[in-house]
Amino acid sequence: MAKVAILGSGAVGTVLSDGFLKHGDHVVRGSREPAKLAGWLAKAGPRASTGTFAEAAAQGELVVLAVKGEAAETVLALAGEASLAGKVVIDTTNPIEPSPPERGVLRFFTTLDDSLMERLQRRYPSARFVKAFSCVGNSLMVDPQLPGGPPTMFICGDDAAAKQVVRGVLERFGWDIEDLGGVQAARAIEPLCILWCIPGFLHNRWGHALKLLR
Ligand SMILES: NC(=O)c1ccc[n+]([C@@H]2O[C@H](COP(=O)([O-])OP(=O)(O)OC[C@H]3O[C@@H](n4cnc5c(N)ncnc54)[C@H](OP(=O)(O)O)[C@@H]3O)[C@@H](O)[C@H]2O)c1
Repeated sequence: MAKVAILGSGAVGTVLSDGFLKHGDHVVRGSREPAKLAGWLAKAGPRASTGTFAEAAAQGELVVLAVKGEAAETVLALAGEASLAGKVVIDTTNPIEPSPPERGVLRFFTTLDDSLMERLQRRYPSARFVKAFSCVGNSLMVDPQLPGGPPTMFICGDDAAAKQVVRGVLERFGWDIEDLGGVQAARAIEPLCILWCIPGFLHNRWGHALKLLR
């Protein structure tokens, strides 16, 4: 049982916090305003707590970054470099631009030669980033039940041991896993979010997940 710091008060933070609690872990959830998490905390049980981003990151053995892509660097700065050093950081974020999608296609503020996770890994070289959970809607992140069997979570990162830890989480959460290699693979994984969202924006279908057939 690990103590997991979930940085994020949004839907992904809620679903993953509840998922780690359901699977037996301890969760400390962070926000700039922890008071906004009081409603969640009241129902989350004895293994849950809340705090600022800095307090949560300091306590977590494993860190989950679940904040707006544009705010990712700010939140990691608030969390504090010392609290990230040496820790596995699951990066769920997508670099979505605030402008509306064009015919269902989101815009990113990154390029195909430089992903958000590469930027974060460069800025915090001692943190062990692993991209995961970025290519599916939050309602399917934990124990997805789909007619085609377990969907595939695409992961990447430079630290092999960190990816082993994240593999363990994903296996417990009911995922097939495809490891696409080093941090540069985030250039391909992050845009899967654009693809995943198109049926939602065009047809209001949000209940799908991606699967790699082998
Ligand atoms: N929603 C999904 O289904 C889904 C699926 C896959 C991946 N993702 C990715 O997961 C991440 C989280 O998504 P979400 O929908 O849960 O929530 P979100 O609305 O994208 O992010 C909410 C979090 O971002 C923080 N934040 C926003 N602006 C900030 C700022 N200026 N400075 C500091 N922190 C700021 C908020 O902090 P406070 O708590 O302090 O307000 C909050 O914790 C995003 O990067 C998203 O692209 C989302």
